[in-house]
Amino acid sequence: MRLLLTTFLLAACFGLQAQTAITNVQGRKTTSLNGNWQYLIDPEDFGNRNNGVGTERVPGDKHEFVEFSFDASATLHVPGDFNSQLPELTYYESTVWYRKQFDYTPNGQRLFLVFGAVNYRADVYLNGKKIGSHEGGFTPFQFEITALAQAHNSIVVRVNNQRSKEGIPAAGFDWYNYGGITRDVNLVETPASFIEDYFVQFKKGAANKVAGWVKLNGTAAAGQQVTVSVPEAGISYAASTNDSGIALLEFPATLKPWSPDNPKRYTVRLTTGTDAIQEQIGFRTIETDGAVVLLNRRKVFLKGVNIHEEIGAGKRRAYTQSDALYLLQHAKAMGCNFVRLTHYPHSEYMVRMADSLGVLLWEEIPAWQSIAFDSPGMQLKLSNMLREMIARDKNRSSIIIWSLSNETTPGPARDGALVQLALLARSLDSTRLIASAFNHVRFSHTTVHISDTVSKYLDVIGVNEYLGWYKPWEAPGAAYKWTSDFNKPLIMSEFGAEALAGHHGSADTANNWTEEYQEEVYKQQLAMFKNIPFLAGTCPWVLFDFRSPRRMQSQYQRGWNRKGLLSEKGEKKKAWYIVKRYYDTMGK
Ligand code: GCU
Repeated sequence: MRLLLTTFLLAACFGLQAQTAITNVQGRKTTSLNGNWQYLIDPEDFGNRNNGVGTERVPGDKHEFVEFSFDASATLHVPGDFNSQLPELTYYESTVWYRKQFDYTPNGQRLFLVFGAVNYRADVYLNGKKIGSHEGGFTPFQFEITALAQAHNSIVVRVNNQRSKEGIPAAGFDWYNYGGITRDVNLVETPASFIEDYFVQFKKGAANKVAGWVKLNGTAAAGQQVTVSVPEAGISYAASTNDSGIALLEFPATLKPWSPDNPKRYTVRLTTGTDAIQEQIGFRTIETDGAVVLLNRRKVFLKGVNIHEEIGAGKRRAYTQSDALYLLQHAKAMGCNFVRLTHYPHSEYMVRMADSLGVLLWEEIPAWQSIAFDSPGMQLKLSNMLREMIARDKNRSSIIIWSLSNETTPGPARDGALVQLALLARSLDSTRLIASAFNHVRFSHTTVHISDTVSKYLDVIGVNEYLGWYKPWEAPGAAYKWTSDFNKPLIMSEFGAEALAGHHGSADTANNWTEEYQEEVYKQQLAMFKNIPFLAGTCPWVLFDFRSPRRMQSQYQRGWNRKGLLSEKGEKKKAWYIVKRYYDTMGK
């Protein structure tokens, strides 16, 4: 809790940094700014300078002229990536300027401008003045504009999705770099003193006790009475806020546990003298016991799949509630009770949909492969992304695992950074499991050994292995033995092979991209899994074929990673049926 407070202060003192978004925006009084936004394409980022585009400067007199204006410009739809909206932006990775105007009548409420996500950098201007910036494409951020809003307002956002070595992800990554204002934009009104944030979940390991906290924001935040009620369960609990406006919660509760079989959620209502907010929250416990994962104290096998936040058939970023339903329904259709959201926090619609559908989730920050862990400021950037992810989704019962990274190379800077992130995640949320996906395992012929030392700080170990694709089998899968230095659950967080849907042929030649080859890899993988006593879950790479410009094999890939069990149009490949049967035999 103290850490959370310091973050806020840190962000505040770095000036013009965006704030972590208030929790549960959907439960507040909002005005949507979604829709058509005017735009200017600026490949040279030329407008990003003094008196630049953000100022919306106009000629002062007849001698003067200004070489930018939005007045006659066309529009892009927000939310949504810009690459799929204009052919000339298909592979575009630089600056696009967005403008949206809105009228506002002050009414004594506080006013916040909240972005669901902007990929990758956002510089935000209001009425010609810069109000702040945000780095990171997959988490929400906000600015308080109570004192800045006028009767007629103009928001300008410089959106830049240029890759960089110091970025998260870094310059190279195996997915499509969709840029833009990719998620909802809202104006949020609150009372002067309001319920800014809260954490209401079962206490770690206690399915009969709720624990958490409520944080008020406002001059009168200290010494306030906060009431948390769960009407359906006859619960009403009151607590007072301390000097920092924080009330700690702990109370007995008899609640039906949330699970994939019964995704039960309760209306939880929080009130103070001046504010009230509510949302649907599920309650469940998640723990490990040696190499076993326990959901509500019962052993669970995580029947998973990896999903990118993309609607392949539309060649676009997924961003709506129906997109979330579409993606999760396809996972459930394959028999999944678990999804790894790769490799970044997906939209809030996705995690709330998982809550209602009963799908367990692994959520991850995009610390993918070649992160510059030793570059100045990197730890703070990583920590901010982790904080923003946990801040947004900590009340989601579906989320059982926070993941810190994917396939990063062991070494002092990386190890140190991940250990710090693990400690931070645990301090922010002691109720969930902490993981990372590793690919540095030791192969000696048919023995595979897990020894990544960062695992000591984790609850669950994820391993990405591509036997049969990037690494040829040295024997049938059933001959492989896995060992580990850690008595912890292993999730095979990635495995698989490529195939072009509808393309058939030999099962023994990888470079034919046949369904039969992919199917055979899955058969061997599943045979291997039978011999891994500490295996607690599996996540095939990947549910749908997805776009990745680095995939340039012109017959079969053409800019697509073809490791999907489904094509981008949802066509089932032979391997899909192998996984479906495997998960069905696993039973509930
Ligand atoms: C990696 C990585 C994925 C990537 C996949 C692949 O393991 O984590 O992001 O897409 O392998 O190469 O297909």
